[in-house]
Amino acid sequence: MKIIMLGAPGAGKGTQAKRIAEKYTIPHISTGDIFRANIKNGTDLGKKAKEYMDQGLLVPDELTCDLVMDRIQQDDCKNGFVLDGFPRTIPQAEALDEALTKIGQKMDYAIDVDVPDENIVNRMGGRRACLSCGATYHVEFNPTKAEGVCDACGAQTVLRDDDKPETVQKRLTVYHDQTQPLIDYYKKQGILKSVDGTQPMEAVFDAIIGILGA
Ligand code: AP5
Ligand code: MG
Ligand code: ZN
Repeated sequence: MKIIMLGAPGAGKGTQAKRIAEKYTIPHISTGDIFRANIKNGTDLGKKAKEYMDQGLLVPDELTCDLVMDRIQQDDCKNGFVLDGFPRTIPQAEALDEALTKIGQKMDYAIDVDVPDENIVNRMGGRRACLSCGATYHVEFNPTKAEGVCDACGAQTVLRDDDKPETVQKRLTVYHDQTQPLIDYYKKQGILKSVDGTQPMEAVFDAIIGILGA
């Protein structure tokens, strides 16, 4: 099963992708997590990506596409994968389609987690992220058991550099300009499904299972 998670920054793509990956035993591939891991490890890719991410801008396609194409051709992706935060531009979507066509495959579902902008800004300030394992929490809606400590791996949780209100606003603008057109792109392919992302996390997940099958 090959799934794309679409949705604005903070819509809950990462939260749901993680659960999908666990339930269907497929890898969760988040370009944002990959970039953040590279930033943390001080790699060249991380240094380049950080310049864009801190401004709320997209990392250029040439730094992003090859990375994902390599990742989805690894062995653990044989039975599928869930893409979170990729594709984010029409050229990225086309690169993905092209790479899959070459190996006789195609995406099965693009799930749009729909949340209006007003709800997003409130969510972001409360988000806490684990930069070690990629887990995401919320101080109110999904708190860690011990404050500031990741339930999954014990590392410290942090407020992401790009979650400042002014950067969130910029990310939303970039989303509407560059990523939202993908909704039509996948609608035309007949694989678009939408879920109401303003519901509690459990209800959103139930709606997704309703689409993917139990
Ligand atoms: P990325 O890491 O992908 O960030 P994003 O798309 O902005 O999305 P977020 O991770 O902020 O939100 P999410 O939808 O995963 O929400 P979450 O589940 O955490 O990308 C970061 C940056 O990297 C980009 O800005 C760009 O610069 C670069 N980048 C990445 N991919 C790229 C690409 N392909 N091309 C170019 N550049 C790229 O949930 C948010 C919060 O809400 C959490 O606290 C969560 O606990 C809470 N929450 C979730 N669901 C609910 C709910 N139902 N009710 C209440 N609270 C909820
Ligand atoms: Mg995310
Ligand atoms: Zn962790």
